[in-house]
Amino acid sequence: MSEGPQAEEYYGKIPRHIAIIMDGNGRWAKRRHMPRVAGHRAGVESVRAIVRRCGELDVKVLTLFAFSSENWRRPEQEVGLLMELFMLALQRESKRLHQNNVRLRIIGDLSRFSGKLRGEVDKAEALTQDNTGLQLAIAANYGGRWDITQAVKTIAGRIAAAEIAAEAVSEDLIHQQLCLADMPEPDLFIRTGGEQRISNFLLWQLAYSELYFTDTLWPDFNKDELDAALHWFASRQRRFGRTGDQVEQIRSA
Ligand code: IPE
Ligand code: IPE
Ligand code: MG
Repeated sequence: MSEGPQAEEYYGKIPRHIAIIMDGNGRWAKRRHMPRVAGHRAGVESVRAIVRRCGELDVKVLTLFAFSSENWRRPEQEVGLLMELFMLALQRESKRLHQNNVRLRIIGDLSRFSGKLRGEVDKAEALTQDNTGLQLAIAANYGGRWDITQAVKTIAGRIAAAEIAAEAVSEDLIHQQLCLADMPEPDLFIRTGGEQRISNFLLWQLAYSELYFTDTLWPDFNKDELDAALHWFASRQRRFGRTGDQVEQIRSA
């Protein structure tokens, strides 16, 4: 894909991994006196624009929070419509993603989804599994606590089976069992919709991400809004526990 016009500005400072909480669909619709689902539909357009832009800028991984493990608490009708929309999007978009060399994967506890929806997920993942461009992860029925819990369960099973010793449990080992273990951790976290919270998104993986919050509602989040976030990101000094002077020295070495 071609480089966008502003790509040079961020040379060397493009996040490898961007993780986004796409929030504000319902309020977007409410302001327009439309049903909440209209906001979710409009939100799919934003997903398209942001996926395209990330491809242009050579971002390696984009993780989008589409449905949290807590979103089942919403009215049954909204949950049903969200599932329908998810299914439609998978059916409609996977071909285009494939043409654009995007690899799609869904992270989260899929066991609660219908067999039909799980079938669509498998199909879309299989179609795009060898693609080498943008790695797109959609978090659905995902929760950061669920992610850590399932990792701990796997490790506990291996200890019980005497495959590994309890002493062998390390940060690395836990990390290896988490969703996205094979991906770099998010450099940039974005939350739209004005709230400043993590809402049980990637708890472990966000340990050192730069956190960007914007009041813009997700359906209004477009290429320019993403570029503004990237501009902000480029101005951050990431210290990972070191002093600012140390970081400057490493950079100029
Ligand atoms: C985010 O938008 C989409 C999902 C959580 C599925 P919301 O539906 O949370 O929108 P608001 O926060 O009510 O405006
Ligand atoms: C977070 O948004 C989950 C998704 C965007 C999928 P919510 O709208 O569910 O978050 P809270 O409940 O306001 O924290
Ligand atoms: Mg919300």
